[in-house]
Amino acid sequence: VPLRFDAVAPLRACVSDWKASGDRVVLVPTMGALHQGHLSLVDRARELGRRVVVSIFVNPTQFGPSEDFSRYPRDTETDLALLAEIGVDAAYQPSVETMYPKDFSTSLTVAGITDGLCGAFRPGHFSGVATVVTKLVNQVQPDVALFGEKDFQQLQVIRRAVRDLDIPVEIGGVPTLREEDGLALSSRNRYLDAEERKVAPALHRELVRIAEGLRAGGAASTLVAASTDRLIEAGFGTIQYLSVCDAETLAPVEHATGPTRVLVAAYLGSTRLIDNVAV
Ligand code: PAJ
Repeated sequence: VPLRFDAVAPLRACVSDWKASGDRVVLVPTMGALHQGHLSLVDRARELGRRVVVSIFVNPTQFGPSEDFSRYPRDTETDLALLAEIGVDAAYQPSVETMYPKDFSTSLTVAGITDGLCGAFRPGHFSGVATVVTKLVNQVQPDVALFGEKDFQQLQVIRRAVRDLDIPVEIGGVPTLREEDGLALSSRNRYLDAEERKVAPALHRELVRIAEGLRAGGAASTLVAASTDRLIEAGFGTIQYLSVCDAETLAPVEHATGPTRVLVAAYLGSTRLIDNVAV
């Protein structure tokens, strides 16, 4: 059973003891509603360090006013049972008051890399993420913090913030865990009804198709147009973006000359799905 913390001081004391005895400490930040995707981050964490801390905090500041903060799934007992089973050392579950005390006034903006993709459709989202991740890292003071490639823009935004501000932590990315049919595991998949669930894997299929087309020398605009048509045909609603980008800066590119990523955000019914693949 993991140690449980909801305040900073005792957690820091514990982490500081671990580090003093030479243990490497790895943090896995989450918003709970844990699934195998999250647990794959924990598995990787256990390979990287002797001690693993999982934080669970549904961060209000990264949800827009019309987003699903209030209906975001919360299931602490199941989460703790999963963490006990997989064997983490500590679960950190701060309250909103601990994270955002009265008169909280500071926020971290990462410019440029947050302009496009999800950043264009979720104003303030990445400031909320960058601020809360900075706080979690400062609170826990791990050697390493792990993030999923599933949220690729988030991973790159965090890498940039940590580099820019000299935050003393190593950031690791973990490949996306998928269902057999390619659908990326996500806490939001539980919103899909049976019919939508059948349609959902088309998203990953089209990403792979675009990546293959690019590797064969194809142009992003042509490949994206054809995949967009097929997604609409398959039953997707609004496609917020389907883009081919430089993997580091996330600036759009027409051809895959350097490290390249294909990224998508699209609605299936009322559920917003995101995914991405490397080229
Ligand atoms: P959450 O959506 O709970 O995700 C926690 C971590 O799990 C993120 O790093 C995410 O990329 C990773 N993850 C989710 N699904 C995955 C999958 N199928 N395969 C691999 N990794 C996956 O992302 C957040 O929380 C928050 O924004 C957070 C970073 C905790 C800040 O509040």
